[in-house]
Amino acid sequence: MEETHLHRAHTFSLLILTFSLFPTLSLSTFSPTDNHLISCGSTVDTTVDNRRFISDSYADSPLLSSEQTTPLTNQNPSPYSIQIYNSARLFKKPSKYAFEIKEPGTHMVRLHFHAFLSSNLDLSDAQFHVLVNGYVALSNFSVGQVRDTVVKEYFIWADSDKVVINFVPAKKGNYSFVNAIEVISAPKDLIADVGFLVNGNKDEKFVGLTKQALETVHRINVGGPKVTPFNDTVWRTWIPDYEEVGPDFVYKTARVITNTNGSVLNVNMTWEFPVDEGYKYLVRMHFCDIASISLGLIHFNVYVNGYMAYEDLDLSSITYTLASPFYVDLVSADDSSGVLRVSVGPTNKTMAYGVDGILNGVEIMKMNNSVGSLDGKICAGMVLKRWPRGNIGALVPIVAGVCLFLSLAALMHRRTVGRRNPASWSKLPTEVPGVGSNHGNQHLSGKA
Ligand SMILES: *[C@@H]1O[C@H](CO)[C@@H](O)[C@H](O)[C@H]1NC(C)=O
Ligand SMILES: *[C@@H]1O[C@H](CO)[C@@H](O)[C@H](O)[C@H]1NC(C)=O
Ligand SMILES: *[C@@H]1O[C@H](CO)[C@@H](O)[C@H](O)[C@H]1NC(C)=O
Ligand SMILES: *[C@@H]1O[C@H](CO)[C@@H](O)[C@H](O)[C@H]1NC(C)=O
Ligand SMILES: *[C@@H]1O[C@H](CO)[C@@H](O)[C@H](O)[C@H]1NC(C)=O
Ligand SMILES: *[C@@H]1O[C@H](CO)[C@@H](O)[C@H](O)[C@H]1NC(C)=O
Ligand SMILES: *[C@@H]1O[C@H](CO)[C@@H](O)[C@H](O)[C@H]1NC(C)=O
Repeated sequence: MEETHLHRAHTFSLLILTFSLFPTLSLSTFSPTDNHLISCGSTVDTTVDNRRFISDSYADSPLLSSEQTTPLTNQNPSPYSIQIYNSARLFKKPSKYAFEIKEPGTHMVRLHFHAFLSSNLDLSDAQFHVLVNGYVALSNFSVGQVRDTVVKEYFIWADSDKVVINFVPAKKGNYSFVNAIEVISAPKDLIADVGFLVNGNKDEKFVGLTKQALETVHRINVGGPKVTPFNDTVWRTWIPDYEEVGPDFVYKTARVITNTNGSVLNVNMTWEFPVDEGYKYLVRMHFCDIASISLGLIHFNVYVNGYMAYEDLDLSSITYTLASPFYVDLVSADDSSGVLRVSVGPTNKTMAYGVDGILNGVEIMKMNNSVGSLDGKICAGMVLKRWPRGNIGALVPIVAGVCLFLSLAALMHRRTVGRRNPASWSKLPTEVPGVGSNHGNQHLSGKA
């Protein structure tokens, strides 16, 4: 099947492969220990894609602590709208939700925003800050005139018994709102602790990834269709790369560079992603050799921002089998260009009759900066300080500690360790079902 595809592609090299190599993804069986789905401001529970969002309006709801909140309902919902976006909770003062955590570890936090008109209020006027467990997730945030939904996704390490989310109006007289919140235990090892720092120097590792706050900024299913939460094992959304960890779907599609003509096609395949300056990014590249007809035919280089991230990558020396999904975690150095470039291209071992490079999916996650913020240079303590003490509550000591600790700790997380070897290549966690035939979720250790 691969062969026919390759022969059909003649003069040019980019081709999209869509195979069904894996069993069809059945509806998710991933059942997270912590699974809080909240429909804010709604009086009833709402089910979206078989997931039940609980109303936060029960009188005894332990979640919410706030003095002035108003539940709002969209009086003119569009007939096709998703129910969680037709209600919202509005806060005139700093307020917080505290979600109980049964199992320490990485948690996915998703915040859903959809501005609508309600009585004499327009939610698009709201401007506010959001803190998640003492990290600044959003500052001076406004949905603006967008009438679409805005979903923000974060990965936060939680080792206390709570995940606390604060909503703080940007100033007095202003307000904040949210339509729905998800706080879910991430599958174990979804965020591994070590990635390669790609900055032109060889052999540098970034240690401590799990303890960073991460925000998903791009999640691209290369060459493939959009994958919606309904079809993703952990309810993520993947955007096709022509519009702008992957589940099964991501590995069924890829872009490859194919040599023709008996000569190596000397081009890189490059994707450019707009990013904010002054942050490090975790770049997770997903590969799965669904293009080769036998092992050992693909050799390619991987670049991030033009720096060599992996030289002469031979997928089959890592997977030992074709069509076996892998990802690698790379950390881009702070960069001031506002663009993050990811490329794959030929090496001097690339064979003339083969595939020069392949990429199935890319995830780009922003990492908190040294003041513990994902959005600006102001730390959580300062965000809260502008409001009278009574509203801040128990978060202050935590946040102050975080602020103080941050710049000191920064260096300790960088270490230069040994040779670059396949230790960084991770099999997909088996806790995410449906990714095919993989066993074990350990990193491969040692050289292949
Ligand atoms: C095919 O080979 C010829 C001669 O070597 C060369 O001029 C041409 O550019 C090649 N075409 C492609 C698509 O590589
Ligand atoms: C919000 O914007 C104002 C005015 O531009 C600025 O002074 C303030 O520092 C910002 N706040 C945060 C938390 O970024
Ligand atoms: C909130 O602040 C923003 C920015 O200053 C302003 O545009 C908006 O009108 C304010 N909203 C309210 C309700 O005061
Ligand atoms: C989910 O996947 C099925 C194929 O298994 C597809 O037909 C359907 O359109 C997908 N649904 C969404 C919402 O992506
Ligand atoms: C691919 O990109 C890298 C980094 O920018 C560059 O060094 C290399 O020469 C490029 N290869 C080709 C074939 O253009
Ligand atoms: C490939 O290139 C690398 C670095 O440019 C070089 O060290 C190596 O000897 C080359 N290998 C071959 C087979 O030419
Ligand atoms: C992110 O915040 C943590 C503190 O929670 C800090 O140790 C770490 O250095 C920050 N990350 C970066 C890249 O500055």
